[in-house]
Amino acid sequence: MNHHHGHEAVNLTGSLVADHEVILTALERLEARLGEMSGRGALDVETINKFLVFARSFIDRCHHGKEERCLFPCMERRGIPREGGPIGVMLYEHESGRRLVREIDELLKSYRMGDTPPEAVFAKCEEYIHLLRQHISKENSVLFPMGESVVVQDDVVEVNECYEVVEGREMGHEAHEELKKLAEEL
Ligand SMILES: [Fe+2]
Ligand SMILES: [Fe+2]
Repeated sequence: MNHHHGHEAVNLTGSLVADHEVILTALERLEARLGEMSGRGALDVETINKFLVFARSFIDRCHHGKEERCLFPCMERRGIPREGGPIGVMLYEHESGRRLVREIDELLKSYRMGDTPPEAVFAKCEEYIHLLRQHISKENSVLFPMGESVVVQDDVVEVNECYEVVEGREMGHEAHEELKKLAEEL
């Protein structure tokens, strides 16, 4: 099996690594926009809301869905434990990401009412950016190589089919492409 080329369905995690690239681009763009907002001392609520749409749909429902419903169960079947192991840590971080998205959303509403300073929103967004970057880095360098090393070819085919199903069900392939564009245009 070839572990090092990003062609479709040749390995277990290529599709997820490609998602990570899209997510990292969106995080970088959000960070740049936040820097501009911080310079002006005011939030661009629309831009942050756009990012929250991307975070809920592309990052959480679709990408984390592919990991939680397809990759992690396969790795568990191949003997990598959930509790007390790296999969448990990844699941916990997905949950932290969900909580942070809800908190950013609440802070944004409160900001619009004049009850929250922009700095509180910046800080919470930075927390989310940091969480996702270190999470992706651990998956790319530790968890995914571990997965590649334990699977057989049948798993690869099955897991890639599962990715397709989750993508189609959670967002539709068209929406997937639109959200990729949204990430690049933040
Ligand atoms: Fe993850
Ligand atoms: Fe991931």
